Amino acid sequence: MINLIKVISMKLNKILMPLGLLLTLSSALLATSTAEKLFDTKCASCHVKIKPADFSTLIAPPAMGIVKHVKMNYNNRDEAIDFITSFALDPQESKAVCMPKTIKKFGLMPSQKDNVTKAELDQIAAWMYDNIKINKSCNSKDCNSKKGCNSKKEKKKKNISPFLITGKEMPHLTKILKMNWENKELNLSEKQKKKLLVIRKVTMDGVMELKPQISKLETKIKMLITEGTNPQKLYPMVQKLSKLKAEATKIHINCIFNTKNILTIQQLKIL
Ligand code: HEC
Repeated sequence: MINLIKVISMKLNKILMPLGLLLTLSSALLATSTAEKLFDTKCASCHVKIKPADFSTLIAPPAMGIVKHVKMNYNNRDEAIDFITSFALDPQESKAVCMPKTIKKFGLMPSQKDNVTKAELDQIAAWMYDNIKINKSCNSKDCNSKKGCNSKKEKKKKNISPFLITGKEMPHLTKILKMNWENKELNLSEKQKKKLLVIRKVTMDGVMELKPQISKLETKIKMLITEGTNPQKLYPMVQKLSKLKAEATKIHINCIFNTKNILTIQQLKIL
């Protein structure tokens, strides 16, 4: 009798186990599709889900650009989700991880707090983090590059340094800091963060304004050299290039100096 019960319960288990598995699986899928629907209704009117063919009609950066920048700034999934949620409820320029020119171009995002709940946002943000595909070969730091990420021109531009002096003595402290913003070991205080954000803004705004001018000019000079242009003709351009690079380098040096002044020796060691 006991044996019979054992056999029956084993058989039942065999039937129920996969059933349970199926249930868990389908509920996970369901969660994804609800989250995606939430994104579609609450966010997609501004943030397109796939890379658009025509960037000129955009009213906000595409979702892939956002996720890419969020991942560049937060290497931990939970922190990334927290950031998206917090930004959507209370957008502030100082919080933003996209390029300053994104906000300049589209304006700061309007708060979505009357449009979506925190619980819904947590679902949306997790779905975005897990499902929005970012173009890995895309190295352009721009959320909304008009040229598309893979164009040769974009790659060439990236190799041009806007600075006169480079090397390990010239760390990109703002970038390194932003990546370690919530690092527990580093333990930045609110006061430090506030000051650092000001430095970040001044540095980024300054360098971002100079960088395209420098790239353009350096590319032009290189082209003229290849074409065998008379060096005399190139001198003024080289002069101009060195001036622009000097400006960018001064901004960079200031950034390093000011950042070091805010951080403790211990914090600098961690970085
Ligand atoms: C009315 C249009 C609009 C809607 C709706 C909207 N956004 Fe935005 N969002 C923007 C604009 C414009 C920007 C770019 C400027 C900025 O960063 O503030 C942006 C930027 C962002 C950023 C990047 C912030 C950064 O670092 O610069 C995140 C994250 C974001 N949105 C999340 C969301 C989520 C999640 C939703 C849906 C709940 C949503 N947005 C709905 C307009 C919108």
